[in-house]
Amino acid sequence: MTKLKLYEYPHPILKKIAEKVTVVDDQIRQFMDDMLETMYVESGVGLAAPQVGVSKRIVVIDVAMEGEKPNPLYFVNPEIVWRSDETEVCEEGCLSIPEQRAEVERPASVKVKYLDYNGKEQELLAEGFLAVAVQHELDHLDGILYIDHLSRLKRQMLLKKLEKLRKFNKE
Ligand code: NI
Repeated sequence: MTKLKLYEYPHPILKKIAEKVTVVDDQIRQFMDDMLETMYVESGVGLAAPQVGVSKRIVVIDVAMEGEKPNPLYFVNPEIVWRSDETEVCEEGCLSIPEQRAEVERPASVKVKYLDYNGKEQELLAEGFLAVAVQHELDHLDGILYIDHLSRLKRQMLLKKLEKLRKFNKE
């Protein structure tokens, strides 16, 4: 497996609408293995293909806690087909926006249709933290970052902190 290069805000690939995968073949599986490896190395719970510079509708997620058995999920061409009216607020972070976090309100549960690692059609009812991860990562495929869900003021404050952090890391 290969660790892939992470693309960070404000790289334009993060704003693009990603393209559908036509067939889940060995090349796509190899890429998903590499995405998962990259996510684990970076201690992320989810990763979308545009974050590693590939504008395709592919997401990997593993919300297993430390010490629990890993539980990788692979989503190809995922689509949310149902959202609960009930919402929940959760603190989110993103590997493309290092070391920042903010609270985002989203539907508490969602139903998602997708193709799995073997190209088989699946449907999953995601609740709790998995629902947050699914919505956050699927947003990436449509060029949406979690900071796009914040008020303008909150987003500007967060981006200022990110800028400061980057300057500090350069010095
Ligand atoms: Ni993200």
